[in-house]
Amino acid sequence: MNDPRIIVSLDYSDPDQALKLIRKMNPARCRFKIGKELFTRTGPAFIEKLISKGYDVFLDLKFHDIPATVAKACCAAADIGVWMINLHASGGLRMMTTAREAIDKQLHKPLLIAVTVLTSMSDRDLKQIGVDRHVAEQVMDLAKLANKSGLDGVVCSAREVAILRKEFGGGFCLVTPGIRPQGSDHNDQQRVMTPAEAVKAGSDYLVIGRPITRAADPLKALMKIEEEIRNVISD
Ligand code: C5P
Repeated sequence: MNDPRIIVSLDYSDPDQALKLIRKMNPARCRFKIGKELFTRTGPAFIEKLISKGYDVFLDLKFHDIPATVAKACCAAADIGVWMINLHASGGLRMMTTAREAIDKQLHKPLLIAVTVLTSMSDRDLKQIGVDRHVAEQVMDLAKLANKSGLDGVVCSAREVAILRKEFGGGFCLVTPGIRPQGSDHNDQQRVMTPAEAVKAGSDYLVIGRPITRAADPLKALMKIEEEIRNVISD
């Protein structure tokens, strides 16, 4: 595969544990997501190591600040050479367009995507911060704002992917966590989709952590998911 759809989530606090997993993987088959925990412990050096091994890295730091600060943070991430970065759409149109313009001036331009509403948030949580509407409505409006700002796509839960795909068509990148292959442990994920269902609904990239990282044979688990996806694509 030249464009692997599986992004393995490196949710480790210990870089050595992450490296153990990475050694079992293959850059032709997956990309990696590095979030706040591992990045805060290891900094850019760890990402550079992954890139030198041929991996694409999604740096999941969800920037949210004043426009100039977010734009500079995005440029700093682009300088590391990552493949994808993200920010919070709730930072607003000006924050997103400023980041877009800054990235467009970079030599290396990572994909710039937005988080709409965190999937950990309910209608009640939104109400507590003064947003008196359903999560689904807020997700759609923030995704529209991200699209209008020229962002490349959004992170969305599996249950939102079909409606967002319908709204934005093919060019808007949808990145979906909460994926569980048939028969695997749901862990703490509430509303899950199988890899095949997510791809069928319109997801471009699947963020998958524990079903791969905690498998007895992670590469075998990854290849099984690949096969499941291949069957859908060739349907
Ligand atoms: O182990 P699992 O497959 O549940 O890992 C999914 C990854 O995606 C974790 O890093 C989790 O924090 C992240 N994520 C998520 N749901 C979101 C956004 C990110 O599960 N809405």
